[in-house]
Amino acid sequence: MNQTPDTPQIHAYIQSLFAREDETLRRVREESAAQGLPQIAVGPEEGAFLHLLVRLSGARRVLEIGTLAGYSAIWMGRALPEDGHLYTIEKSPRHAAVARRNFQLAGVEQRVTLLEGDAVAMLKQAARHAPFDFVFIDADKEGYPRYYAWALEHIPAGGVVAAHNALWGGSVARQDLHGPAIDAVRDFNRMVADDPRVTAHIYPAGDGTLVAVKK
Ligand SMILES: C[S@@+](CC[C@H](N)C(=O)[O-])C[C@H]1O[C@@H](n2cnc3c(N)ncnc32)[C@H](O)[C@@H]1O
Repeated sequence: MNQTPDTPQIHAYIQSLFAREDETLRRVREESAAQGLPQIAVGPEEGAFLHLLVRLSGARRVLEIGTLAGYSAIWMGRALPEDGHLYTIEKSPRHAAVARRNFQLAGVEQRVTLLEGDAVAMLKQAARHAPFDFVFIDADKEGYPRYYAWALEHIPAGGVVAAHNALWGGSVARQDLHGPAIDAVRDFNRMVADDPRVTAHIYPAGDGTLVAVKK
């Protein structure tokens, strides 16, 4: 089996070809750092991968849980067809305000709706817009099983659930490491891997994105 070593150069190469940020995405990322927001958004390679997944799945209705400054939402929103719509849930009023401004900056404000509040409450609101074709989970790790269960109930066969931070900095692969988030992500990965209702895989760029397609 040919195996390319996983080096920063390889990722820089891929990014330079297939995950190029335009001026808006670059600004969103750099300004969120300057504004002191946590630097936990997906990277360009992961954003480009999400964009590709939304396109590949032909999704018209996307739900994201965990908006932050809207970086991943912009990558996904841009992949939607003219009549597509993305709903994104964010509990922090500060993050939500920055994201709303960024959606205007990116010109996607007509096709993106931010649902402000805790995910558990906001999923009840989001249910009014179901079914979704694509659900991207990127919020509190302990909530992943609950969000995943909700997603599977609100997507049709062929619908996709993606979850960010599936590798949690690589710590999930080390059985000697434990902590609330490490254990939550490790248990979540195991749960999806064993779920007969889906076909799933982890794409390992960045912090890893778990992708599950409902059978
Ligand atoms: C990793 S960031 C999202 C990054 C974003 N998806 C991106 O890549 O650009 C996680 C976000 O989820 C929000 N969040 C965490 N727990 C939440 C919850 N229970 N309900 C709603 N939002 C939550 C946080 O405030 C934070 O802004």
